[in-house]
Amino acid sequence: MTDTKADRIKIERALQEYLRIPCEGQERVVEAMRYSVENGGKRVRPILTLAFCRAAGGREENALAFACAVEMVHTYSLIHDDLPCMDNDDFRRGKPSCHKQFGEDTALLAGDGLLTLAFETLASAPVEPQLISNAVQTLSACAGVRGMIGGQVLDLLSESGVPDRELLEKIDRLKTGALMEAACVLGCIAAGVTDESALSAARAYANSLGLAFQIVDDMLDVTSTQDELGKPIGSDDKNEKVTFVRLLGLAGCQKLVDSLTERAQQAVSVFSGDTTFLRAFVRELAVRRK
Ligand code: IPE
Ligand code: IPE
Ligand code: MG
Ligand code: MG
Ligand code: MG
Repeated sequence: MTDTKADRIKIERALQEYLRIPCEGQERVVEAMRYSVENGGKRVRPILTLAFCRAAGGREENALAFACAVEMVHTYSLIHDDLPCMDNDDFRRGKPSCHKQFGEDTALLAGDGLLTLAFETLASAPVEPQLISNAVQTLSACAGVRGMIGGQVLDLLSESGVPDRELLEKIDRLKTGALMEAACVLGCIAAGVTDESALSAARAYANSLGLAFQIVDDMLDVTSTQDELGKPIGSDDKNEKVTFVRLLGLAGCQKLVDSLTERAQQAVSVFSGDTTFLRAFVRELAVRRK
C-alpha cells in the first residue's frame, strides 16, 4: 500500500490557506467554495502532481501551489457536474451537493470562483515566471473545451445514445484524462523538466490512468453504495449515460482497467527518479472501492 497521508495533509493545509479569502460581503460564496473543497475527496490529482515532481527530481514545495490549483479545478468540475442541468446529483463527498446546500446560483458561482482561484494560485507559485506560464498554458488547455469541458459536452450530448467504443474513449479521455494529464505534467513543470520524452511519458501515464479511473468510477456507480462512495450510485443509469459498463460489462471493464494500468506503469519507466510510488498508486486506483 502506498502511504499518501502525509501528502494529503500538506495539500489540505495549503488548500485551507488559499481559501482563506478576505471577502467582506461575499462570505456565502466563499463558504460554498470551502464547503466543497474541504474535508472530502481522495486528492488523487494533487497527489499525482507532488509525486511527479519528486519522480522528476524536483522539490515538492515548488509543486504544492500547482497541485492545489488542479484540485480547485477538479472541485469546480464536480460542483457543476452535480447541478440539475448536468447530472442532477444530490450528494458529493459524503455531504449534500453544493447546490443542495447553498442553492444553484451560489453553487454555479462557487464553481466559477474555484476555477478563477486556481489560476491566481498558479500565478503565486514559488517558481520562475516561465514555469508559471507553462503551467497556466497546460492547465487551461486541459481544463478547457479541448479538454475536460469538451468531454463534459460530449458526455451530455451522448446521453441515451448507443455505446460506441471510440466515442466512449474520447469522452473519458477528455472529461477525466485531461485533468489527470494536467496534474502529472504540472508536477514535471514544477521540477523544471523540459525533456520532451519525460513530458510525453507523464502524459502517457496520465492518459492510461485517466481512462482507467473513469471506467472504475462507472463500475462503482453500479457496484458500490452511496455510503461508501459519498455520492449517489445509479447516477449513470438515471441519466442514460453511455459507459464502458454498458459496453463491456463489469468483467470486461476490469480487464481493460488492468491492461491500462500496466500501460501506465510501463510509461513511467523512462523516468530517472524513483517511480515505485507512481507504479503502485495506479495499481491501487485500479482496485479502489471509492
Ligand atoms: C470523481 O473524481 C469524478 C471523476 C472524474 C471520475 P474523484 O473520484 O477523484 O472524486 P474525489 O475528488 O475523490 O471526490
Ligand atoms: C465526471 O464524470 C467527470 C467530471 C469532469 C466531473 P462523472 O459524472 O461520472 O463523475 P461523478 O460520478 O459524478 O463523480
Ligand atoms: Mg458527469
Ligand atoms: Mg456526475
Ligand atoms: Mg460517475
